[in-house]
This record gives sequence, structure tokens and C-alpha cells, in this order.
Amino acid sequence: MKHLIDPTDLTKPEIDEIISLAQDIIAHRERYQGSMSHRKLATLFYEPSTRTRLSFTSAMMELGGNVLGFSDARSSSVSKGESVQDTVRVVGCFADVIAMRHHIEGAQLYATEVSTVPIINAGDGSHSHPTQTLTDLLTIQRELGHIDGITIGFCGDLRFGRTVHSLIKALTRYKDIKVILIAPDELKLPDYIKQDVCERTGIPYREVETMEEVMGELDVLYMTRVQKERFLDEDEFDRVKDSFVLDSARMSLAKQKMAVLHPLPRVNEILTEVDSDPRAAYFRQVENGKFVREALIVKLLEWKDDPAHGMPEDEEPIVDSELRCPNRKCICNNEHAPHKFHRAENGVLRCWYCDSKVR
Ligand code: NCD
Repeated sequence: MKHLIDPTDLTKPEIDEIISLAQDIIAHRERYQGSMSHRKLATLFYEPSTRTRLSFTSAMMELGGNVLGFSDARSSSVSKGESVQDTVRVVGCFADVIAMRHHIEGAQLYATEVSTVPIINAGDGSHSHPTQTLTDLLTIQRELGHIDGITIGFCGDLRFGRTVHSLIKALTRYKDIKVILIAPDELKLPDYIKQDVCERTGIPYREVETMEEVMGELDVLYMTRVQKERFLDEDEFDRVKDSFVLDSARMSLAKQKMAVLHPLPRVNEILTEVDSDPRAAYFRQVENGKFVREALIVKLLEWKDDPAHGMPEDEEPIVDSELRCPNRKCICNNEHAPHKFHRAENGVLRCWYCDSKVR
């Protein structure tokens, strides 16, 4: 069965199918209305969300399907101590597909081990956010007409911003991508993305500390919010919160054909004066998110019983009773998930669920 937990769960042809179905839905909305009647989507949101949850809900409604679920885990059996695996076993009896957001990293991957229906990761801690990635890819395709060959600048919180981690992983599926990382020291991209993703797949990346020095090179500028809720240290947060702000003066340094993306919510990192610039694509991006989620739901249900669309073949996990995942926010340190690991190509041992480096 196909789940979407990490962007690399999708092959390039599968990504292409989803993006082109989304474009077809945009062009012929009426053809798809009712295509999911009698189908149900469960949205299990253990962490606050407006856009992602409503986007899934609206997507399923447009397809004529129904939606059930919770947006606050306190109102579910989770508050009685139910495990993620038990919750999805139960919900799988009521719904055809599950979209889950969780503050614990790896929770959705752990849930797939027992689920009888496809699970979509709608965000796990600072780790991954693959449906935002599909949204971003569709947006780049629609704004620029191509994804291959782009130079993309990621600006802001590259450390905790899961949308950045996921999009970089997905971009390894494309040709001639160049990545520029614009962030202060405190918010730099985690090593596992730089080493295991960019270096391993040969995506050139460069780290800079100001927007000005690279603005004119970019085809896409991907802005992000500082993830206050993921900071462990308030003082550290205060130091970096206003670090990188996009305004009209900085936009004037950019190419005429260029797209500014932001997963939203924005706090103060893009001034509202930029909103009327034709290159500001972030509100169009929100709408693309609904269409791409429609396409994803249709495809996952279509692929469910098709052996040609399974999960990628993984190597056997490494289990060693001496080893522990060091990440306090990982599922194996929060539920009875086993501590298991995989060895990255550079020999580093990483947690199976959250990719944290073990030793
Ligand atoms: C992002 C998220 O939740 O990771 N938002 C979203 O999904 N639209 C980005 C963020 O919260 O800053």
C-alpha cells in the first residue's frame, strides 16, 4: 500500500502523475466533483493547523467525499493515553484514507506499520511535510512553467522548517537544481539534509547570510517563518526572530520572472507591501495546495491495491539494544516504538523514524 510519509516515498513518475492530475482538476473542476462520493477522509490533527487541515477538508469536499476527525487531540481518546497505532487501527475502520499531523517526529511512519488505509503525513514535528512539498512543486510549475533548472533560495528558519527539509528532498528528483541557503547561524539547515540529501545526490548548495547578495540569481525565493514553537530557548528565539525580512526594496533586486513562495502563516518575514507584486505567489500557492491534495487523495486510493505502487524498498532496520535515538521529540522516545536505525550512505547511523544522527 502506498502512504505518503516522506517526499521520497513518491517516485518521480508518481510525483508527475499527481502534479498533472492537479492541473487537470484545475482545468476541469466539474469532471472530478463527485468522484469521491461515499469515500471518507479522516483528519487527525494532534498539532494546531488552519490551512493544511482546511485544505484537506476542502479538497475532499470538492471531490464529493466526506471528512471526519479531530483538530485537537485533547478531544479524542488520545487524552486517555491511546497510542498513535491504536488510534489509526480504529480510524481505519471508519475512513478510507487518513491525513495526520503530529508534533512527535516519526509518528506517522510508526502508524503505517499497522494501518489498513493509506496515511498522509500532514507534518511531523520539524521533520517532514510532504503535502506542502507537492503544493510547492505545483506552484513552481505553474508560476515558471518548469521545475528543472531552477535556482531556489530558502530564507529564514531552515533548521526547524519542515517544509524546507521536504522540498529539498523532493528537488533531488529534478535536474540541474541549485540551492542557496539564506539563514543566520542559529537557523542553519540540519546536517542530515546537507550531507545525506544535497551532497549525496549532487545538488550544489551554498550558504549565505544576506538576501541582497543572491537576490538577482533566484528563480524561486522560498520564505519561511521562524518556528517559535520549536525553540527550546526563548533568548535564542528573540535574537533571530526578525532576521530576514522581504520588502519591496529587496524585491527590486530580483529577476522580473521569479516567484516568492511561503508555506504560510507569515508573521513578519514578508511585508504586506510585497503582496501586490506579481511575483508574490504565496496566496496562489494556498489554492494550489487544495488542488494537489485532491489529486493526492484520488491517486492514493487508486494505487491502494496496486502492487506497482508500494512503498520504496527499504533496507532492513538495524536494531541494537545499546543504541538510543537522541531526539526527545521522536516517536521512539514518546511511545513504545522500537529504537531502530538505518545507515546513511556516508556511514552515519540515523534513527529510522526521525533521521536523527545516532553516533
Ligand atoms: C507550515 C507548517 O505547518 O509546517 N505551514 C503549513 O503547513 N502551511 C509552515 C509553518 O508553520 O510555518
